[in-house]
Order: sequence, then structure tokens, then C-alpha cells
Amino acid sequence: MDAHLDLLPAGIREAHAAFPAALDACVDLDGLLRLKGAYVGRDGSHAAQLMELLKAAPKEQKRELGAAINALKNAWEEGVKARQEALESAKKALDAARNAVDPTLPPPLPAMGALHPLNRLMDRLVDVFRPLGYHAEEGPEIETEEHNFDGLNIPGDHPGRSSSDTFYLSEHPELLLRTHTSPVQVRVLKRLAPELKRRGGIRFLAPGRVYRKDEIDPTHSPMFHQVEGMLVGKGIGMQHLKGTLAYAMRALFGADAKVRFRPSYFPFVEPGCEMDVSCPLCGGSGCRVCKGSGWVEILGAGLIHPNVLSFAGIDPSEWSGFAFGMGVERLAMMLSQTPDLRLFFENDQRFLKAMGGLD
Ligand code: PHE
Repeated sequence: MDAHLDLLPAGIREAHAAFPAALDACVDLDGLLRLKGAYVGRDGSHAAQLMELLKAAPKEQKRELGAAINALKNAWEEGVKARQEALESAKKALDAARNAVDPTLPPPLPAMGALHPLNRLMDRLVDVFRPLGYHAEEGPEIETEEHNFDGLNIPGDHPGRSSSDTFYLSEHPELLLRTHTSPVQVRVLKRLAPELKRRGGIRFLAPGRVYRKDEIDPTHSPMFHQVEGMLVGKGIGMQHLKGTLAYAMRALFGADAKVRFRPSYFPFVEPGCEMDVSCPLCGGSGCRVCKGSGWVEILGAGLIHPNVLSFAGIDPSEWSGFAFGMGVERLAMMLSQTPDLRLFFENDQRFLKAMGGLD
């Protein structure tokens, strides 16, 4: 081919001489396409010029000139093709390296579970009472009438016993879903009665789920949570109940929290009361949460009814005590200003994660 180069114009010879370096200088496909256009493109390229030259050449030169031109065109086309393959395989190798798994990296952490905000709040309540000597007790969610009602001095005709209020198990009508955590009182008292003298008293909290036939709405759910508290000792009176709960409310809501007690009725306490705490949000001046009253109802409580002690085998002339029970959802809604209780049960990760403030 080189033998024929002298037939060609000087400009073309220079372009051909520069071709290998120009090819090397193409570091991506775009650059290579531009070079290809300049050498072998349809219009205005070196090859196109050569074709013009060939057309205009005298007949006797055409054969030799044609061979020279073909040789050049082939050389340029092959050069471009080889470079294109080289660039493409380099790009593939780079992509592969980018996507490659690095076996030296630590594996990604699996999503970690977390305690539900209501469980964290119950844990916190247990923590508040722990320094006072309380520990957590548990009872079954499927209960007998004896533990849920009889042992708690709840009369046989009490409306709470009806199947319109309480879930009974259809295949075991003597069993029910406990309607409050108070049956844990009966269980723990019975269990510890024999060692009461040696222990000198009983105190515990009982957090857990309870069930009632309530329609679901922003403040009701057929399943909710309570925390029960109980203390048995000698000479226990309302003053101990008040002191204990006032301490707990200060631990929960801050040193300024105040409590007030209103008389109320529960068959398993005598006297019975309900306790309000000064509104933790407005401090008592009145707001939406406390409906302007400055107080929010927190729990039911009272001194253990003598019949409850007797039922468990404890002599009420020797021993006395107090009990209280509070709704966990109410407390959680207040602390987090959540207007709708259903949010706690819908398992929306965004809500659950935002509930950081309960513990
Ligand atoms: N068990 C009662 C309820 O569910 C609350 C309570 C517990 C009241 C202990 C007094 C003593 O409403």
C-alpha cells in the first residue's frame, strides 16, 4: 500500500500518518465516532475526498489509484473497528468492577426490631416502681371467672360478666379473655399467701393486655393494656396509696406533678377512688388534652377489699393493702399527644419510630 502513497495528495498522506496517534487519542466512543466521521464519513471526509479524486483521475490511473484508495480506506476502517472493540471491552470491565461484590466489606445490617412504644411505656412504669421494691408479675390473658370476677368480689350479676361486655371462649364457656389486669392480684395473692409472714408483705406491678367488647374508635379498642399495682402489708392505709402514687407521678411527669383523689367504686377495693394528675401538658392551667380542667384521670385505686384477701387465704384482720390499675394507651396518648389510639396498633413504622419519647 505504501508504494502507492505517492500517488495521493500531501494532505491525505499527512492525515494517514497522523491516523495511529489520532486513534490512540480517542479515549471514548464519542471521540472515536468523530474521528471515524473525519476519515471515512459519507461527506467531507478524507475517504470522500479520495473518491472525488478517483472519479476525476484519467482512466489509465484509475486502477492503481483505486487500489491505493481502497487500501487506505480499509486501514482506517479496521483501525476504527479495532479501537471501538478495545474501548467497549474496557468499558465493560470498568462496569463489572463497579458492580462487583467486595467480599471484604462487612455485610449490611439486617433491620433490627424494636420494642413497641406501649411495651416501652410499661417497662418505664415498672422502672418507676422498682426503687420502691416492686417487681413485674404476669398472668394469662385467657382467664377463669374465678380469677377475673369471683376472687375480686365482683358479684354474680355484675354487668361486666355479661357476654355483651366480655369475650368468652366459645368452646370453653368457663374461660374468658381477662377484662382487666386485676386477676393477677388474685393469682399472686394466692401464690404468695403461704409465705406472707416470712416475706413481711407483697408488692408488685402487673402489666399486660386486656380485652373488652368495645367498638373500635379513636379512644376505644377491644384490646388494650393496663398496669396493675398492689401492695400488702401491715397497717396499710390510704396515706400509703397516696404517697406511693404521688411519688410515681412525679417520677413520670416531673417534680411539679400534683395528684388528686376522687371517691369511686370498684368491688375489689374499699374505699375506692380515682386519681387525677395535674395535666402534664399545660401544668394545670387548662388545655385541649385536659379539656380545660387542668386535670387528667389516670387510674382507679383503693384499699384491698377484705373479701379479696380472704378469698386468697390471707387474714384481713392481720393484713391490709392497696391496689391500683391504669390504662396504658391513655397515658401513652397523653404523653405523646397522639389523638387516635388506633395508631398504636396499625404498625406504621413512621408512627412507631416517631414515638421515641415514651421511655
Ligand atoms: N381493674 C380496674 C379497671 O379495670 C382498675 C382498678 C384496679 C381499680 C385496681 C382499683 C384497683 O377499671
